[in-house]
Amino acid sequence: MIVKSLDHLNSISVKISEKMEKGDCIFLIGEIGVGKTTFTRHLINNLQKNKGLKETEVLSPTFNLLYEYDIKDLKIMHYDLYRIKKASELDHLGIFSDRLDTIKLIEWPDLIKTPLENKLEIHLEYGQNEDERNMKFIGFEKWANLEDEL
Ligand SMILES: Nc1ncnc2c1ncn2[C@@H]1O[C@H](COP(=O)(O)OP(=O)(O)O)[C@@H](O)[C@H]1O
Ligand SMILES: [Mg+2]
Repeated sequence: MIVKSLDHLNSISVKISEKMEKGDCIFLIGEIGVGKTTFTRHLINNLQKNKGLKETEVLSPTFNLLYEYDIKDLKIMHYDLYRIKKASELDHLGIFSDRLDTIKLIEWPDLIKTPLENKLEIHLEYGQNEDERNMKFIGFEKWANLEDEL
């Protein structure tokens, strides 16, 4: 689908945030600067709003690899794996072994080969105008018809 603006991106993130629950895993795929962190920021801020909390700053975990957010009973793990070059380095992060009940939002997930049932892949591409993006969703079960619901 075509995302026309940052406002439009936010309205998409509102609807996705309402479907999110413990154990979900969202892969964010696309070039540098296309909007993976921006979308994640909207998503986290909307989850905070949904739970009646104040919105916090959401920074890119480019250097830290991971930032965590506690949103009432939800724990959000926001990863940026850009700097990881080998799949073996992923083992140390314990992404899928430490806690299964967290929500995982993962930028640059290319090296992850673990099959995941509740995964939603979001593919982002640049559009025709500065603030326009193409967004594609690949997911199963509750995510299967996502685009029709947005
Ligand atoms: N429709 C849009 N969706 C996402 N980002 C947008 C959009 N329009 C403009 N932008 C801008 O593009 C930039 C995306 O940067 P960022 O989210 O850091 O990208 P990435 O994490 O993919 O490297 C931000 O400056 C954001 O404000
Ligand atoms: Mg980013």
